[in-house]
Amino acid sequence: MTPKKPIQTQYLADYRPYPFHLNETRLRFGLSDSATEVTSELDFTRQGEGSLILDGGTGLDILRLAIDGQELAPEDFTREGEMLSIADSALPGDSFTFSATVRIDPSSNTAFEGLYLSGGMFCTQCEAEGFRHITFYPDRPDVMAPFRVVIDSEQPVLLSNGNPVGQEPGRAEWHDPWPKPAYLFALVAGDLVAISDSYATQSGRVVALNVWVRPGDQDRAGFAMESLIKSMKWDEEVYGREYDLDVFNIVAVDDFNMGAMENKGLNIFNSKLVLASPETATDADYERIESVIAHEYFHNWTGNRITCRDWFQLCLKEGLTVFRDQQFTSDLRSAPVKRIEDVQSLRARQFREDQGPLAHPPRPDHYREINNFYTATVYEKGAEVIGMLKRLVGEDGYKAALDLYFDRHDGDAATIEDWLLVFEDATGRDLAQFKRWYTDAGTPRLRMDEEWTDGTLTLRFSQETPPTPGQDDKQPRVIPIAVGLIGPNGDETRPTEILEMTDAQQSFTFEGLGARPVVSVLRGFSAPVVLDRDLDDAGRAFLLAHDTDPFVRWEAGRELALNALQSMAQGGSADPAYVDAIGRLMSDDDVDPAFRALCLQLPAEEEVAGRLAHAGVTPDPDTIHAAHMQLAHSVAEAHEDLLIRLYQSMEVTGGYRPDAQDAAQRALRLIAMARLNLLDGGERAATLFETAGNMTERFAALSAMIRAGRADAALETFRQEFADNRLVMDKWFMIQPAAASPDQAATIAAELSQRDDFEWKNPNRFRALLGGLAANHAGFHAADGLGYDFTADWLIRMDAANPQIAARMSTVFETWKRYDAGRREKSLAALQRIAATPRLSRNSEEMVSRMIE
Ligand code: ARG
Ligand code: ZN
Repeated sequence: MTPKKPIQTQYLADYRPYPFHLNETRLRFGLSDSATEVTSELDFTRQGEGSLILDGGTGLDILRLAIDGQELAPEDFTREGEMLSIADSALPGDSFTFSATVRIDPSSNTAFEGLYLSGGMFCTQCEAEGFRHITFYPDRPDVMAPFRVVIDSEQPVLLSNGNPVGQEPGRAEWHDPWPKPAYLFALVAGDLVAISDSYATQSGRVVALNVWVRPGDQDRAGFAMESLIKSMKWDEEVYGREYDLDVFNIVAVDDFNMGAMENKGLNIFNSKLVLASPETATDADYERIESVIAHEYFHNWTGNRITCRDWFQLCLKEGLTVFRDQQFTSDLRSAPVKRIEDVQSLRARQFREDQGPLAHPPRPDHYREINNFYTATVYEKGAEVIGMLKRLVGEDGYKAALDLYFDRHDGDAATIEDWLLVFEDATGRDLAQFKRWYTDAGTPRLRMDEEWTDGTLTLRFSQETPPTPGQDDKQPRVIPIAVGLIGPNGDETRPTEILEMTDAQQSFTFEGLGARPVVSVLRGFSAPVVLDRDLDDAGRAFLLAHDTDPFVRWEAGRELALNALQSMAQGGSADPAYVDAIGRLMSDDDVDPAFRALCLQLPAEEEVAGRLAHAGVTPDPDTIHAAHMQLAHSVAEAHEDLLIRLYQSMEVTGGYRPDAQDAAQRALRLIAMARLNLLDGGERAATLFETAGNMTERFAALSAMIRAGRADAALETFRQEFADNRLVMDKWFMIQPAAASPDQAATIAAELSQRDDFEWKNPNRFRALLGGLAANHAGFHAADGLGYDFTADWLIRMDAANPQIAARMSTVFETWKRYDAGRREKSLAALQRIAATPRLSRNSEEMVSRMIE
């Protein structure tokens, strides 16, 4: 074993302001693949006690350091790890210009952090701490400055933040007047073409809009541009926020660690979140592109104009911006469908995180590697918390608080305390208890019991949050519980009302009721809790049929399915309640097809495993898989005629449009096909694969054919057709292990990983294959441990090239303690093997040690 260097933990409590104000940052780049020269000039003014300490990665080759033009002598500075300290004796006074010229090597940057090359094009990713790999700098979000950037390069297109101030062949100059932290810096230089448009803001500023892509990709960039224009308009109309520069550039990059990045005036995107055509992208891809374009655009106010004081406050910008992009999608598409989709993903990703070894609060108070905290808890739970705040203070209170936030904090690097204070000041409400949602980890369990006497209904609630790592004792939280009552005839007798629970136990009464109603509770998923109540299948079927709240309606169907799966996974038989109820809903043509499609989906096998573990039963992935297949089969057999009718009647005719209505019809049609697939041996899928003109249908057909065991020829046709399209080939790599039978999934993934076109250093390709296997619950958790071994091998290999990607993918192991002794032993061995890897990154080391502990 190599001795491990201890990794340092950062604490929120240690925050200290930077001792210098940065008045302006000037940068000059002489770009070259392996020897780029970066010269910086930083105008500092002292504002507090302390030395001048700059961050700078070990890859920076110092050519010259100077202060006010005087070159520093070796004794004037010290370099230790990623820190450069300037001797106090070298500072001439309280105001001075620090300058550095360094050489860096973008061509060897496989971590895609800082300045790197993607397919011959220069690009950057600086959030969270990538800028220190470009030059020496106070690389922290509370140090903000206007930037002037000069780029010298033979590349035809040269971009940076802000407005262009001079362009000539081989050189471009950019000026960003809005003070910003280094994490929002960006530079792009490459052979790019733009599709262009313009937008006139509320106050009449005309903004030039460009979406930059590789030559040949222009015909797939139009939807991104449309989405950008919709976002700009929506933020003006709903939040009164206007854009503030003369240009807005978006660039699509093939090698990108995350989804996208909100650099000021120059958003950089993973190309899969920009490029779409009907033949290459699915309805889900289109919806995601629209929402991520909006997300990054909305960051211009929530993130850039108001940024974070330190990285512990990450959810200040991310939770709010996710909340805003969710509102945007609800407004543009179907609000109930969007809410259900968001809850599905919250439960699948955030509840899973919150209930395992990686649980942390939306605002953590310590971390070892900040890149490990771009999590579902910071993003999605961060958004849920804002949704609760809005429910508690109401529409008007929310609007007043947000106006005050923009007013008071424009130009600031702010904190969660600042955020909560604007709500307190705008509404007069005390949010001390509410703050626990930000500082405490874990998902509260909410139990509801009912008592009925003489026209009075009493609802008794109790809440409890299980311990999470480092937080054993949990205090009660404020929980907004949205409740409505449904009378026995199916009519709503009490409309939605928000019960505000603040104690560990609390009762609420409803008086003057004629007959005992059915309680519709946690409407709209009014709080991110696990609700537990005694309601029999008849009661659930009643809510599925009659509730006016679409979320509770869907939830009732999901509970019926979960109950059936849970009992089948423990050797019981399928209760007909779900099958009957779902049939009644399916045949109701007044119900939105998208909603019916969501109800027809079964809860994921992973979710059944989580539910069993929560009930104290060790989940067996194979039995769960068998139960899942069997329940789907029962639905298909019971409703064959209905499913055939839906498959036919939901066909969309005419040209492909990615809008919500058409996508809804396709969704219902394709899930009907997936059920029928169990009866027709893949016949319909095979026909659809041949005839469909769009990727949504073709890809659904291909995955159905894999499940029916008749996809060999189709996979080859698909591969030949799309060999030149990386994004479509990612789908090809993903679906094979994802849809494989569990006993073959790991072997198939291993075979695919040996192919020449498995370009594993490309984050999308790597995620496609490993994520595809992990999405196959029984396949990844196969008892022979092959899924664990395959994944560990590749995480070790990836860690040496790209630590962020390896660390993020390691979360496929986060539920390992749920399973039986044999699986636990094998997954623990895989994790220990990763932990023992020489020179393991800080990223992976932190993740793996938290999972093992
Ligand atoms: N701020 C970006 C977004 O949410 C995410 C960038 C995160 N990057 C990282 N390396 N962790 O849109
Ligand atoms: Zn974001």
